Amino acid sequence: MKYYAYLASSYIEGAFCISKGDLFMFTIDLTGKVAIVTGGANGIGKAIVEALRYSKAKVAVVDLHPHEEETEEELFHIQADVSNKQDVAQMMEKVINRFGKVDILVNNAGISTMDYFVDIKENDWDKTMDINAKGVQLCSQAVAKKMKEQGNGGKIIHIASQAGKNGYRLMGAYVASKHAVVGLTKVMAIELAQDQINVNAVCPGIIETSMKHRERIIGGQLRGLDAEAIRQEDASQVPLGRTGTPEDVAYVVLFLASRFSGYMTGQAINVTGGMTMH
Ligand SMILES: NC(=O)c1ccc[n+]([C@@H]2O[C@H](COP(=O)([O-])OP(=O)(O)OC[C@H]3O[C@@H](n4cnc5c(N)ncnc54)[C@H](O)[C@@H]3O)[C@@H](O)[C@H]2O)c1
Repeated sequence: MKYYAYLASSYIEGAFCISKGDLFMFTIDLTGKVAIVTGGANGIGKAIVEALRYSKAKVAVVDLHPHEEETEEELFHIQADVSNKQDVAQMMEKVINRFGKVDILVNNAGISTMDYFVDIKENDWDKTMDINAKGVQLCSQAVAKKMKEQGNGGKIIHIASQAGKNGYRLMGAYVASKHAVVGLTKVMAIELAQDQINVNAVCPGIIETSMKHRERIIGGQLRGLDAEAIRQEDASQVPLGRTGTPEDVAYVVLFLASRFSGYMTGQAINVTGGMTMH
C-alpha cells in the first residue's frame, strides 16, 4: 500500500509517465493464460511452475518423470521426452485438448554431462545436444506454429545458462548445447517478432538443484576434490556471496512471461549473482 502511495505521489509530481489505471496493475496476473513448462517436475522447472501457478496461469508440466498427483484442475502433468519429436507432437495435442490454447512456453528441461574435452564420449555429446538443444527447437517449433495460428502473440522463454556465454572446464558438451540455445533465441526472436511472440533466454549461474549436486560429485571425482570443496569454490566466485535458488530464476521467468517485458525480445538475461556480466 505504501509502495502504491509512493507511486501515486510520484505520478502526481510527474516523475512517472504511467497512466493512473496502471498504478494498480503492477502485480503479475496471468489469469486466463496457458503455460507449458518442460522439465517442470524438479529443481528450477518446479519453482517456475509454482510461480506461474501463483500468478494464476494454467500450467502443463512436461517431464520424463512426472511424479506428482493431479491435485488441481489447472495443473496438468504430461510425460514426454522433449528430444523425441513424436512425444512433443503428442504433448501439444494433450495441452490443446485440455486447455484449448498455449500462451507461454518455458523450455527448461535439460541435462549436464561432464568430462575433459579429450574424453567426451559420443553418446554423452549426442544426448546432451539432443535434450538441451534439439529439445528446445522441437518444443519451440510446435508451440510457435500454434501461437502463429492463434494470432494472439505469446512468450517463449529458454532456460539457457551462463554456460551459453562462457566456457567451463569439464563441460564441453553442455557449453556447446547452451551456446546453441542462446543463438537460437536470437533467430527465433527475429523471425517470430511479426507475430508478437517474444523470445528470450534466461542464463542462470550456480543454482542449488539436484543437477548441481550431481555436478559437484562427478566434477570432484574428475578433479580429485570433494564435493564440499567445489561447493565452497562455487560460492566464492559469486559477487553477491551466495549460490542461487530455483526461485531466483523463477522470478525472472515470471517477469518474462508477463506483459511487463513486452518490449524485450532476443535477450539472454543473466541470473548469476553477478558472476557473469555480459
Ligand atoms: N542448476 C544449475 O546450476 C543450472 C545453471 C544454469 C542452467 N541450468 C539449466 O536449468 C534447467 C533446469 O536444471 P535443474 O538444475 O533444475 O535440473 P534438474 O536435474 O534438477 O531438473 C531437470 C528436470 O528436467 C527433466 N528432464 C530431463 N531430461 C528431460 C527430457 N528429455 N524430457 C523432459 N524432461 C526432462 C528431469 O526429469 C528433471 O525433472 C536445465 O536446462 C539446466 O541446464 C541449471
